[in-house]
Parts: sequence; C-alpha cells; structure tokens
Amino acid sequence: MIKNLFITFEGCEGTGKSSQLKLLVNTLKKTPIKFIATREPGGSKEGERIREILLNHRLTIQPFCETLLHMAARYQNLKKVIFPALKSGKWVLCDRYTDSTIAYQGYGHGVGPQKIKKISKIAFGDLEPDITFILDMPAKKALKRAKLRKIDFNRYERMGISFHNKVRRAFLKIAKKDSKRCFVLNAEKDRKEIHQEIKEIINKTYKTKLK
Ligand code: TYD
Repeated sequence: MIKNLFITFEGCEGTGKSSQLKLLVNTLKKTPIKFIATREPGGSKEGERIREILLNHRLTIQPFCETLLHMAARYQNLKKVIFPALKSGKWVLCDRYTDSTIAYQGYGHGVGPQKIKKISKIAFGDLEPDITFILDMPAKKALKRAKLRKIDFNRYERMGISFHNKVRRAFLKIAKKDSKRCFVLNAEKDRKEIHQEIKEIINKTYKTKLK
C-alpha cells in the first residue's frame, strides 16, 4: 500500500509555490487518494489570526518573537489539522513549513538555524515532510512577480532584496543538506512543466501513478 505523504512547498515570494500546490490538488482530486491542503502561517482558525499579525507591516515584531509566532501558528496547524489528517491516512499538502522559518527567520533575520531546529524538535518532535518541493528562481525576479499581483505589500514583500537573496540561498542550502527530501525546481519554467516534474518525482519516489 502507498504511504500517505506529507508534502511541503517552499520558496521565496513570487516563485509560484501556491499555484503548484493548487495544481497538485487538482491532480489528486482525480484519484482515490484522500488528502487535505493547508498553509503556513495559518491553516487552523487560530493560526490564521496569528498570520494576520505576522503579515501586518504596521507592527514592529522582534525577529525572535516573529519566529515564535510562526511556530505557535505551526503548533496549532499540526495539532488541529496536519496530525489528524495524517493519522486518518490522508495526504497532507502544506504551503510552507519549518524550512520557511529556517530560511526567513533563521538566515534572513539572523535568528540562527540551530535555534529554530532545537525549538522545532521540542515543539513538533521528529515529524518531517516526506517530500519538499523548493521553487527556485532569482529573488529579484520572483519578488517583482509577487508584487505585480498586489497593491498592498505585506511585511515580507517589503523586505529589501538582500533579505530575499539570503532567503533564497538558505533554501538552496537546506536542499543541499537534505537532498533526499528536498527537490529544487526551476521556477522560471512553465507552470505545467513544473507540475509534470512534481508528479514524476512523487511517482518515482513513492511508486504512485499520478497522471
Ligand atoms: P505565503 O502565504 O506563502 O506568502 P506568499 O505566497 O506571498 O509567498 O507566506 C506568508 C509569508 O510568511 C511569506 O512571505 C513567508 C513568511 N514566512 C516566514 O517568514 N516564516 C515562516 O515560518 C513561514 C511559514 C512563512
């Protein structure tokens, strides 16, 4: 029997990870596979409230406080959404997860990756995604793409390019360190082509037959 998978999508703003998640949702809908899709920060009702604080650029949040808020939202999402779904045999697709905290707060804000890993271990135990897709492209181009879609920019979209470059480098570092779990995809390719690659990776790794 195929194991139920925990799949996360990561990358800088504007790399198209949310649309890749949606494409995978549409593919899974055509199969008997039971799944849920969630996002971070957010997912649970309470986590979505924490998200509002986190994205509000009018609030000045200390980097470590920001880190803990992301983790607080994650704790709710895990307990209320992710764990129950995995326990009941469903696949979980999550738009961002711990790698984002390591990349944005750990490296981007300089909180340090080790601190985040330590707190994650205490709070979340050993749960790790089975597969992480990292959508990658030059941060400047991606940020431009993200900003085209909006008129009001959130806390992260307002950060300078050097921050986003650090975040991109961090994702690539994470991928290099954990190459069994992480798959870096060229986000500049056509979205359908990327979706095809995602399906092929899942099929190859887990002997599924996603079409
Ligand atoms: P998201 O909804 O994915 O924004 P977008 O789709 O526009 O990229 O995520 C919201 C923001 O939260 C995003 O800019 C990255 C940031 N973030 C962190 O800084 N740390 C985290 O742990 C997570 C989950 C997100």
